[in-house]
Amino acid sequence: EGANKGVAMLQQTLKDCHEQVVFGLATGGTPQTLYRLLSASQLDFSRCIAINLDEYVGLDQENPQSYAYYMNRHLFSKKPFQQTFIPNGMNRNATVETQRYDQILDRYPIDLQILGLGQNGHIGFNEPGTPFESTTHEVQLTESTIAANARFFAQSTDVPRSAYSMGIKSIMAAKQIIIMAYGKAKAAAVKKLVLGPVTTAVPASILQQHPNVTLIVDEAAADQIKKEKVEN
Ligand code: F6R
Repeated sequence: EGANKGVAMLQQTLKDCHEQVVFGLATGGTPQTLYRLLSASQLDFSRCIAINLDEYVGLDQENPQSYAYYMNRHLFSKKPFQQTFIPNGMNRNATVETQRYDQILDRYPIDLQILGLGQNGHIGFNEPGTPFESTTHEVQLTESTIAANARFFAQSTDVPRSAYSMGIKSIMAAKQIIIMAYGKAKAAAVKKLVLGPVTTAVPASILQQHPNVTLIVDEAAADQIKKEKVEN
């Protein structure tokens, strides 16, 4: 149901923009349903640019755990885009790679950014403490993020220790944002995102200051932001 709303919003963005449309895209478990629905839809992305949030350092696009592989598998192999961008995890020169990515972001301002939400409130791989002014950078992943992502790897020691991620400033520059969160493991982060103070301790809290954000949650993720049930 939430993913259907996401599809409708992407469709609207395609309708509203008459020229090239730029989508900011996320990976992980959360957007998989959205990508499945988009893949099965009639929507045409051939005049669209996709810019992904992040990539693990050290994984190439042939590696099934890389986000490049994920995007090809879940979306791009079924829905061709005009052009797609993702940080190059094989470029060990972080300065060169992050500057290259920032130039791409400058050149293609994002119309609609899709985000998932980390259990610790991260967006992209911007972990707690990341400055709100950050642009693309190399991130040392926290133990909690490594543990959360270990399910996609044979063992947790296989999870890369760092990633390249778009910064919070770049995410906030998107004209419109959809953030999705499903399951009870996200409930505390959703509460802080919606009701908590705006603080770098909860990167997603900055979204309170963005003019056009849609939050899509299921019942379990919304558990801590629901009004008390009224007894009849
Ligand atoms: C993925 C990303 C991350 C995830 C977040 C939630 O590109 O940037 O911020 O969106 O870690 O991950 P899932 O959806 O797997 O719970």
